[in-house]
Amino acid sequence: MEAVPAAAQAPAGSSAPAAARAQAVEAPVPVDDGSRAGADRAELLSRVAAEVSACVKCGLSANRTTTVPGEGSLDAPVMFVGEGPGAEEDRTGRPFVGAAGQYLDKWLKSIALDRSQCYIANCVKCRPPQNREPHPEEIGACLPYLEQQIAAVRPRLICCLGRIAAQTLLGTTSSLGALRGRVHQRNGIPVVVTYHPSAVLRDQSLRKPVWEDLKVVQRLLQP
Ligand code: URA
Ligand code: SF4
Repeated sequence: MEAVPAAAQAPAGSSAPAAARAQAVEAPVPVDDGSRAGADRAELLSRVAAEVSACVKCGLSANRTTTVPGEGSLDAPVMFVGEGPGAEEDRTGRPFVGAAGQYLDKWLKSIALDRSQCYIANCVKCRPPQNREPHPEEIGACLPYLEQQIAAVRPRLICCLGRIAAQTLLGTTSSLGALRGRVHQRNGIPVVVTYHPSAVLRDQSLRKPVWEDLKVVQRLLQP
């Protein structure tokens, strides 16, 4: 979703037939109507976690130990989105608690953030076997949960950790190299793309570009 098509921005009903207009007027309030009260937003987050815990919408449900819905502050200004749970996450039910997560904590600290100021989630909520990449149909099945989490938290900024998160949230097949280095928009929310912490643990040459991306995150979060 790199650019919102002009048609999507046209006022509802401006050129729709009368029947469609009438339907639009009666349609339920959209999930993120910009005025959702805190209690409703908290309720939505717990409903997502409850639905995820029982979810069998894709094949990843077969091998999981526990689901990893995501966690963090309801009022987090920034949401970090990874790929999917690894072994430690699958065991504990918490996102980014293994080696990549400990490294992510250092990244947060480097820009004066800690987890209490973030919401941390993944594209898929169940661990892919042998940590393989989640398949497109698994990501597609799981995406509505992430969408609802974004709608509930309404972060001021989303930071995608790695190619899978970036491609998923930006709706593109572009490479990570092509996507990082500029600020994207997703439904009005700025999106910064950087490397996945696991990739940086494997390749130290990525530390410098990540630091540049983190400084962009820090700058965009300035009041
Ligand atoms: N890698 C991810 O992408 N997400 C996690 O939660 C842990 C490791
Ligand atoms: Fe459901 Fe997502 Fe788990 Fe698939 S990965 S079973 S869609 S929660």
